[in-house]
Amino acid sequence: MDVNATTERQTGSPSVSPSADGRTPIDKSGGRVRGMFAEIAPRYDLVNRLLSGGIDVRWRKLTVQRAPPPPPGGAVLDVCTGTGDLALAYAAAAGPRVRIVASDFCRPMLDRGEEKALRAGRAIEWVEADAMALPFPTAAFDLVTVAFGLRNIADTTAGLAEMARVCKPGGTLAILEFSLPRNPVIRHGYLWYFRHLLPAIGNSVARNRSGAYTYLNQSVEEFPDGERRAALVRDAGFDRVDQVPLTFGIATLTVARRTADGAT
Ligand SMILES: C[S@@+](CC[C@H](N)C(=O)[O-])C[C@H]1O[C@@H](n2cnc3c(N)ncnc32)[C@H](O)[C@@H]1O
Repeated sequence: MDVNATTERQTGSPSVSPSADGRTPIDKSGGRVRGMFAEIAPRYDLVNRLLSGGIDVRWRKLTVQRAPPPPPGGAVLDVCTGTGDLALAYAAAAGPRVRIVASDFCRPMLDRGEEKALRAGRAIEWVEADAMALPFPTAAFDLVTVAFGLRNIADTTAGLAEMARVCKPGGTLAILEFSLPRNPVIRHGYLWYFRHLLPAIGNSVARNRSGAYTYLNQSVEEFPDGERRAALVRDAGFDRVDQVPLTFGIATLTVARRTADGAT
């Protein structure tokens, strides 16, 4: 399925949010974010492996373990799938009768994912769509996942509301997203790497002019963490919110259950 449903929905919330220092606004408008990922798409996987030392592969495996695919007949949606690494991990773990759908609003990122799935012989449906206006029926999926994508959606609340809408009551939401270490010493060292070394390496290896890896650290530092992130998930219509800090807390896996009655 390839639904060209990319839309820019006006949600009422600004797409420019204040950065961690409260001064420089981060532009998260769809055009800017889509353009940035289109530019780095050819080298996205390489830079991911390089900057994380391969840890991101382990984080995705752990996500599949903690939020396992449904039994045959079930369906999984990976939102903001990018080059599809999490969708591919689910396709490898799920039986052939589980439907895996991967959606993103950046065509060049999806194209990379599609090529990888073809090479791996995995049947995944690639859908070009905005996470704030998903082209799927209500309660269509047993499991909805999003890896390093929620922070990029211009309106987090609107994105989570769509994920809740398409998730079956009693179904599961899994969010893999960056966070900041709690330990002050580790946090200090990590912030130095994150603010200085990471943007320098990322921007040059990905050969991008849009400052994608400067945006990365800014968007992580301003994105709600810990209990604030859990509250956003609960407010969207999920309960049993469980948060697992990964690798000193530089990422967090949040797993939650869509409320049994589907209410928010
Ligand atoms: C950092 S990448 C993550 C890709 C992948 N999930 C991974 O784990 O590597 C973020 C992705 O979110 C997508 N994205 C950001 N905002 C979006 C939106 N509103 N709708 C759909 N996709 C969006 C971008 O196009 C990009 O591919």
